[in-house]
Parts: sequence; structure tokens; C-alpha cells
Amino acid sequence: MKNPKFKYLILFVLFFTTVSLSAQSTAPNYTAFYPGEIWKDTDGNHINAHGGGIMFKDGKYYWYGEHKGKSSLARVGITVYSSEDLYNWKNEGVALSVAKDPDSEITSGSVMERPKVVYNEKTDKYVMWFHLELKGQGYAAARTGVATSDSPTGPFTYLKSYRPNSKKWPQNFKEEWKDTPKSGEPKEWWTPKWRKALNEGMFVRRDFEKGQMSRDMTIYIDTDGTAYHITSSEENQTLHISKLTDDYLGFTGEWVRMQPGGQNEAPAIFQKDGYYYMITSGLTGWAPNAARSFRAKSIMGPWEKLGNPARGKYADKTFFSQSTFILPVQGKEDSFIFMADRWKPENHIDGRYIWLPIEWENDKPVIRWKENWAL
Ligand code: DGJ
Repeated sequence: MKNPKFKYLILFVLFFTTVSLSAQSTAPNYTAFYPGEIWKDTDGNHINAHGGGIMFKDGKYYWYGEHKGKSSLARVGITVYSSEDLYNWKNEGVALSVAKDPDSEITSGSVMERPKVVYNEKTDKYVMWFHLELKGQGYAAARTGVATSDSPTGPFTYLKSYRPNSKKWPQNFKEEWKDTPKSGEPKEWWTPKWRKALNEGMFVRRDFEKGQMSRDMTIYIDTDGTAYHITSSEENQTLHISKLTDDYLGFTGEWVRMQPGGQNEAPAIFQKDGYYYMITSGLTGWAPNAARSFRAKSIMGPWEKLGNPARGKYADKTFFSQSTFILPVQGKEDSFIFMADRWKPENHIDGRYIWLPIEWENDKPVIRWKENWAL
């Protein structure tokens, strides 16, 4: 070959053809779930949608999740994958991108976790909520962000973030808890006095003006179309359940505290036979712990404790995972999938997905480990 440039061009084309063919050939056609294994998308790449949630619309499931690199900081944004069978997922790209503008709340280097997308019939918009932490502030901001799109695959436009329920007392809050005790609030954490003060609303009072903290969160649409925002608040000690406005973009001011001092994170919720069920995790950072479960007749409570839903070996660690969503399978009555993340904090992109069927034991939802399973 006379022209060396031409030789390099041919080598270049051959290389990329081989790479793309081998990627395609490694894209499996799944007919089952393999919890904890690498889960390839239809391009053959491990799915990158952590802390995810699923929306079903017009015959397709859409899986939204955190794009993660080695670290957990948001460098890309929220990704979206689509599927018709729940086993094989097509990468639909970035639904909500981090912003280039360094002054944006969702600039690269912020924390964007646990995205949940819902469709609003009244406005014909797709609404995404997610846990937002501002760049350079660790987890101190404790905010919840909202974005909308006209299409399930985006692009979503970021609207704003909240500290929820500013200047609103919860509905299940005693009148006498509204004033700071004359003796002041306890300063030292974890003492019996501090626990009592926490149960009696110390952090709610502290954050009354600027709004309540919001970290791990989910969104739930009730059968009547009302949306609820469920979040870990009060320094992750107490869950807050708030009713959203009709457009799903803001808070109505109607809210309750759930399990004060219970240290619940990673809330996931579903409904069956007139009961709402919630599965959460304990509070141990990226490390796994024992899940918890609850049941209520109304989303606004009271919620009854049902205990650890996991059964068998490693039930005390939720099979090394943490809940993120509970998916009702379309067209299969009473079929629910418990979705969880097996975090890999040393290399977040390698985080795995643990999907297991919800089973029942004496009217309580339970989860058992399975190497693989199909619907
Ligand atoms: C546990 C939460 O559930 C995750 O979403 C994440 O916020 C980590 N904590 C951070 O340590």
C-alpha cells in the first residue's frame, strides 16, 4: 500500500467494526433475571441506572437511574433505558443531563440520586423527582429536585429544588411540640434526652422556616392520581410523607412524619388489597443492612411495623443490597418486583441490581434470594 495514511484508515475501520461486532455479539437475549450479575443492555454494556425507578407508559417500561462512574458524583446525569419484557433493556441515553453552568444546582459534581419519574395526565408531562446535593457540600444541602419533559426519554428540563414543607407543621404533630422547650434543645446526640427531643419534633422545629431536609426519596401515585413524596428527613432519622400538588411539581403543605427516630432510608412502596406496603433500609451509608417493612390503610398512616421482609441466608444484609423501588408487573395481578442496589462504593459503575419477586408469608411481603428467576 503506497499511502501509509490509507493503511491506517483501513486498520482503524477494521478495529471499530470488530469492536462493535463483538459488543453486539455479547449482547444477550435474556429470558430471566440474574440478581447480582452484570446486566447488559441491548448494546452489550452493563446497565448504568443505579438507585433507579420504573415508569410504565404505552406498553413500555422506562428505567431511570443514576449514571455512575468510579465515584458517585453526578458527571453525566440521570439515564433512561426502555424495555417491553423487563429482561432486555435498550439504552435511551441521558434523560436529565448535568448542567455545564457552574452556578446551576445540577452542575457536574453535584449529587443526583434515586430519580423517580411519573406521568401527569392533567398536564401531559413526565415529571422527575430526585435527591439533590449541591456541589462541594457533601450531603449537607438535603434537597429534592424536580424536572419535566414532554417525552419519557427526555430531555428533561430542570425546574427547581426544595427543602419541603417550609412553614408547615405535619398533620400528626402535637400542639405542644411547636414551641422550643424552655430548657432548650439537647446538644449532645444519641442520648435518651436527644432521642426524646427528636421524637417530639426537635428537627422539625429547627427546619420549620427553611423547609425540611430531604435525602433518600421516592414518589408514589395513588389509584386516585394523587402523588406523594416520601423522603428520609430530620438528619435521616424520620420519614416524611407529603402530598404533592395536582401538577406533581410542588408540595401542598399536607404532610406527616413516619417512624420518628426510626432511621429509615431507601423507601419503596406498593399497594395490594387495600393496604399500602413500604420497604425501607436502615441507615449505614453504602453498606448493606437489614431491610424493614410496614403496612398502612392510608398513605398518610398510621404505619404498622412488619419486620425484616428478607428471608434466608444474608437476610440480615438484604442479600447485600438496598431497596430502591417496587415495580408492579403489568398485566400480572399481584406480581411485584423488589428492586435494590448492590452498591460498589470503591467503583460505583460496577454496582449491581438485585431484582427479586415479592412473595407472601402470613399476609406479609417477603423476599427470598434467587440465583435466577423469570416472571
Ligand atoms: C445511602 C443512600 O441510600 C444512598 O442513596 C446514598 O445516599 C448513600 N447513603 C450515600 O452514603
